[in-house]
Amino acid sequence: MNAIDMIKDRRSVRKFKNEKVDRETMKEIIDIARWAPSWANFQIARYTLVDDEAVIAKLGTDGVKGFVYNINTLKNAKGVAVLSFVKGKSGKLEGDDYATSKGNVWEVFDAGIACQTFCLAAHAKGIGTCVMGVIDDDSISQIVGLPEEETVAALIVYGHPDEEPPATKRMAADEIMRFV
Ligand SMILES: Cc1cc2nc3c(=O)[nH]c(=O)nc-3n(C[C@H](O)[C@H](O)[C@H](O)COP(=O)(O)O)c2cc1C
Repeated sequence: MNAIDMIKDRRSVRKFKNEKVDRETMKEIIDIARWAPSWANFQIARYTLVDDEAVIAKLGTDGVKGFVYNINTLKNAKGVAVLSFVKGKSGKLEGDDYATSKGNVWEVFDAGIACQTFCLAAHAKGIGTCVMGVIDDDSISQIVGLPEEETVAALIVYGHPDEEPPATKRMAADEIMRFV
């Protein structure tokens, strides 16, 4: 799969086959995702891969703020990546002060890049993903026992796709670009 097809053909997948993704495949996906760029190459993104059915069920009941759309997706999910990041690093160069007006926003930026890199790596391996932002960070941290120095960025549901969603609409290039 070339890079252009990989970017254009990825879809958010919310229906999965009743079959877990084997852990070796997930390790291969993380092995690709770790090449994502990051602020000062701090590599703050972390992936907690949940394939235990009881824990996934708990994420559905307690981790998505009762958002029915996500609850339903989690009901048929066989895997969930809790994407987290190590707090208090990205945005700084030397010392404790943030280097730019964006303060610690760069850590979320890093997590976003890691997120898409993970989704594209999964897609390249035939694994479907869907990012979830309607989540309860604190509850998820507790459910999966996240280390104190990390915070949750997003959930990424993953699995063997059981649907081929049509492409969602995109704005035209002319609408989102300008030359100066
Ligand atoms: C930051 C972020 C948060 C999202 N949150 C959710 C969510 O909570 N539930 C969901 O079903 N999809 C969620 N999505 C998926 C988007 O709805 C989806 O990416 C968008 O509609 C474009 O469709 P596509 O991914 O198939 O191209 C989220 C995507 C992003 C990037």
